[in-house]
Amino acid sequence: MHKKENLYYPSEEVKKNANINNEEVYNKGGEDPISFWEERANDIVWREKWKESFSHNPPYFSWFSGGKLNITESFLDANKESDKTAVLFLPEPEEEGEKKISYKELYKEVNRFANALKSAGVKKGDPVGIYMPMIPEAVVAMLACARIGAMHTVVFSAFSSSALRIRMQDTSAKVLITADGYYRGGRVNNLKESADEGVKETSIEKVVVANRVNNEVSLNEKDVWWSDFIKDQPDELEAQEMDSEDPMFILYTSGSTGKPKGVIHTCGGYAVQTKATAKMIFDMKEDDIFWSMADIGWITGHTYTVYAPLICGATMVLFEGVPNWPQADRWASIIDDYKVSIFYTAPTAIRMFKMQTKEVKNELSSLRILGSVGEPIDEVSWEWFFREVGKERCPVVDTWWQTETGGVLITSLPGVGPFRPTFTGRPLPGVKFDILDSEGNSVPANKEGDLVIMPPFTPGMLRGLYKNEEKYIKTYFTEHGESIFYTSDTAYKDDNGLVRIVGRADDVIKVAGHRLTTGELENAITKNESVAECAVAGIKDEIKGEVPVAFLVLKEEREKEELHEEIAEKLRKDIGPIALIKNIYIVSDIPKTRSGKMMRRVIKKLFTGEDLGDLSTLSNPESVEILKEAIKKDE
Ligand code: PRX
Repeated sequence: MHKKENLYYPSEEVKKNANINNEEVYNKGGEDPISFWEERANDIVWREKWKESFSHNPPYFSWFSGGKLNITESFLDANKESDKTAVLFLPEPEEEGEKKISYKELYKEVNRFANALKSAGVKKGDPVGIYMPMIPEAVVAMLACARIGAMHTVVFSAFSSSALRIRMQDTSAKVLITADGYYRGGRVNNLKESADEGVKETSIEKVVVANRVNNEVSLNEKDVWWSDFIKDQPDELEAQEMDSEDPMFILYTSGSTGKPKGVIHTCGGYAVQTKATAKMIFDMKEDDIFWSMADIGWITGHTYTVYAPLICGATMVLFEGVPNWPQADRWASIIDDYKVSIFYTAPTAIRMFKMQTKEVKNELSSLRILGSVGEPIDEVSWEWFFREVGKERCPVVDTWWQTETGGVLITSLPGVGPFRPTFTGRPLPGVKFDILDSEGNSVPANKEGDLVIMPPFTPGMLRGLYKNEEKYIKTYFTEHGESIFYTSDTAYKDDNGLVRIVGRADDVIKVAGHRLTTGELENAITKNESVAECAVAGIKDEIKGEVPVAFLVLKEEREKEELHEEIAEKLRKDIGPIALIKNIYIVSDIPKTRSGKMMRRVIKKLFTGEDLGDLSTLSNPESVEILKEAIKKDE
């Protein structure tokens, strides 16, 4: 890599081997995005070619309708005789050693489990819950759903039983796949207990339990061990034929009122976009060993931990544990020991690695490409990642996307560049985007505005919110009209057209890259009997990027520590440990507009020292001083 002024460019070596190494693809994608994506669509296996590439009936759109396929045929059937490793499982306890699952074995395992699901009555279009740790059975479960055309609905294993219950109630799933537990940071977690709680008051009739840690579990009437569930099931099964626009999976993401939104992705477009983006952005090839650290509970876990490496015929690293445990540099040893060639992680992890390991002793010579996702990365961390991990050799792709977009839409391509720390880069070829002011005009370079995606959108973007059409329209297709997808991110372009993401314009906060909304936290906190009013804001954190704090107006006098503990416990129970609240401030009033809306923008600025802006819309401007004092008292 070489640097010219504030930009980095790929070296000749990187360019020579890259799938894409010149501007031509940008020209093609810019001129005619539809034919650009059509060309990419020819790179996956279809049973029948699509009839219509793109159609738009605002705010709805479709890609490749009439095309018939099953995503698993592109990699399971295509490689069913191959002994090459598909899944390289690295358990947390090192003494267990790695487990390799070849494409051939994966084909059989998925078919066995898919046959078992069918025998249990699961049909095309049925939702199936998956509440599992990072173990091979989780991958098999997801692929088995895809194989029979059932919609997997993965719930992050660190989410609480209440979070699981809300999602299962919303989908009305009849089957849940889980595990007895998992290892994390040296502790054995009892996942089955949470699953037992979570399926109460849902329509779940069967719970399949994988044995991971030999936890003592009580098997209830609904429960069946994974091994019994697949017993005597044949390892052959013809994949269910799906229409390109049939739903493939639902993934819930935080909603503002506490009720999560079920984002729907469809079969054809998702498969096409996943393969195309993996090849463009990660330069993925069949001999790559790709380690995406994201948990399967998040969209990155779906698209880039599971589907991307498989659909490219590469090897996926599936890591169960914590990357800096038991040694701070375990992640680096893994890269060296298993010759990881592409490493995809998040700024929070990078900041943690940097704090613990200033100079990385490992060679890391197998690495070709580094990636970052989920939250803005600061310049110091970017430089450290580039220098200490990539050894100034590897391009760093800072990938911008969302649960809703299904795959990366903005980043510089490794063989083209340029790369500018803290800027995610250019939109991908085939992606039409803009940055708009509140009147809907494109803003000039270096001016902030709303990041939007323009028609024809992209094949892998969401097609709806499960059973919530109104919210789909309101959230994405109202702010700038029904033909423009609003991302809820604020961004600007530099003079070279590289995009910098400033952050969310709505009430989403990113805690260690995990998406939460202030509304869902407030919802849980106000259930506390002592709390009359509550406002949550995300404030800057050295490691996690952002962390939530809460301002509380109380009904009665309470001791702060004790109340903080109660609230923390409630958040753990309602959401999970990621909802850990950093601080609470007990105040007598909270800034509100005349219509009673909490002014989070003002609250946030109290911590950054920024100018508070116009306070004339507040009904109680004196409350700002009350908050200031509470913060000061606590410093
Ligand atoms: O604010 C943006 C931020 O994460 C949001 C999407 O979160 P989620 O749906 O959880 O998906 C995360 C993983 C794809 C975006 O609206 N975000 C994502 N990537 C970046 C980012 N912010 C800055 N830089 C990024 N590379």
